[in-house]
Amino acid sequence: MPSSLHQRQQQQLLADPYPISPRSTSGYQRSISPFSRTGLLIFLSLMVVLGVLFPWMDMMESFISAGGSSLSKWRDYTLAQAVSFVAKNGTVIVCAVSQPYLPFLNNWLISISRQKHQEQVLVIAEDYATLYKVNQKWPGHAVLIPPVPDTQTAHKFGSQGFFNFTSRRPRHLLQILELGYTVMYNDVDMVWLADPFPYLQGYHDVYFTDDMAAVKPLNHSHDLPPPGKKGRTYICSCMIFLRPTSGAKLVMKKWIEELQDQPWSKIKKSNDQPAFNWALNKTAGQVDLYLLPQAAFPTGGLYFKNKTWVEETKGMHVIIHNNYITGFEKKIKRFRDFGLWLVDDYVLESPLGRI
Ligand SMILES: *[C@@H]1O[C@H](CO)[C@@H](O)[C@H](O)[C@H]1NC(C)=O
Ligand SMILES: *[C@@H]1O[C@H](CO)[C@@H](O)[C@H](O)[C@H]1NC(C)=O
Ligand SMILES: *[C@@H]1O[C@H](CO)[C@@H](O)[C@H](O)[C@H]1NC(C)=O
Ligand SMILES: *[C@@H]1O[C@H](CO)[C@@H](O)[C@H](O)[C@H]1NC(C)=O
Ligand SMILES: *[C@@H]1O[C@H](CO)[C@@H](O)[C@H](O)[C@H]1NC(C)=O
Repeated sequence: MPSSLHQRQQQQLLADPYPISPRSTSGYQRSISPFSRTGLLIFLSLMVVLGVLFPWMDMMESFISAGGSSLSKWRDYTLAQAVSFVAKNGTVIVCAVSQPYLPFLNNWLISISRQKHQEQVLVIAEDYATLYKVNQKWPGHAVLIPPVPDTQTAHKFGSQGFFNFTSRRPRHLLQILELGYTVMYNDVDMVWLADPFPYLQGYHDVYFTDDMAAVKPLNHSHDLPPPGKKGRTYICSCMIFLRPTSGAKLVMKKWIEELQDQPWSKIKKSNDQPAFNWALNKTAGQVDLYLLPQAAFPTGGLYFKNKTWVEETKGMHVIIHNNYITGFEKKIKRFRDFGLWLVDDYVLESPLGRI
C-alpha cells in the first residue's frame, strides 16, 4: 500500500506540470489524486489536439506558401506576356478594376461569356488583391501595370483619387497599341446583350459611343458629333475600340497630354472624360474616327430613363452602360431592376465563378 501510493505520487509528478508538494501526507491524497487525473486528462487531450492539429497546420502552411509562391509569380507577369496570352486574332478586350469593383467585373464577364468572347478578356488589376484573386481563379487573365495607384482614395467618383485612377487608362491602352494589338476597352459597369464585334465595321482608327441622352435618328452620322454646351463633345470614355494605327496612338497620346494640362481641381472635380473629348477634338483632322450607333450602344442616361425609346429600339441593344448614376448600391439596384444583375442567378457562367 505505501509503495503503490509512492508510485502514484511519482506518476503525479510526471503527469502534473504543477505538482502539489510531493511531501503530501495521506490526508492530502484524496484531494490530490482527482486533481492529478484532471491534469492527466488535460495533458492527454492536449497531446491529441496537438497531434491532430499540427499535421493539419503544416498542410495549411504548405498550401498557403505554395499558393503564395504560385500567386506571387503574377507580380512579374508583364503586359506583353499577358496580352500575347489572351489575344485572339490580335485583339484583346480590357477593363481596369480595383477590388471594390469585383462584383461588377463578374457581372460584365458573365455577359461577355454569353457572346463567347471571354477568352480575349484581360483584366488590368489596379491593386495586388485583384491581380491575385483573378489569376487564382482564372490564370493569366489579370495583369498589374506598376506603379500601383493609391486605391484607398480611388473610388469616390469626382475625387482626385478617382481622377488619378482613371488617368492611367490612356497609358494602358497606348501600351497595348504599341505592342501591336487591337484593343477594346470597357468600363465594368456595362453588360453585353449581343456581340459588339459585327458593329466595329470598316478600318477606322478609333470607335466610340456618345454619352448624350438626346435621342438621335437611327440613321445618324458616324462622324464626331458637333460640340455641346461646354464647347466640347460628350463622347464616353467607357467603351473605346482602337486599332494599332498611328491615328489611334495619336489620340491616346493627346489624351495623356490633356490630362496633364488640365489636372484635377477641387472646382472642376473632373474625371478623364473631358480630356478624352478634347483629345478627339484636337486630333479629329488627322484621325479616322467612328461614332457607333446609338441604338446599339446607348448611354445609361437614355437606356435607363426612356422606356418609349427602349421599346422603339427593342432588339437593337448591344452594350448597356450603367452610368448617369453614382454609388455601387444604386448601380446594383438599377441593374437588378432591369434584369441585368446576372451575378445573382448566373454566377457560374463567369470564368471567375463565385468571388
Ligand atoms: C478570328 O477571326 C476568324 C476569321 O475572321 C473568325 O472566324 C473568328 O470568329 C475570330 N475569333 C474571335 C475570337 O474573334
Ligand atoms: C494624385 O496624383 C497626384 C500627381 O501624381 C499626386 O500628387 C496626388 O497625391 C494623387 N492624389 C491621390 C488622392 O491619389
Ligand atoms: C436619315 O433618314 C432621313 C429620312 O429617311 C433623311 O432625311 C436623312 O437625310 C438621313 N440622314 C442621314 C445622316 O443619312
Ligand atoms: C473643337 O472644339 C472647338 C471649340 O468648341 C470647336 O469650335 C470645333 O468645331 C471643334 N472641332 C471639332 C472637329 O469638333
Ligand atoms: C424618349 O424617347 C422618345 C422615342 O424615341 C422620344 O420621342 C422622346 O423625345 C424621348 N424623351 C426624352 C425625354 O428624351
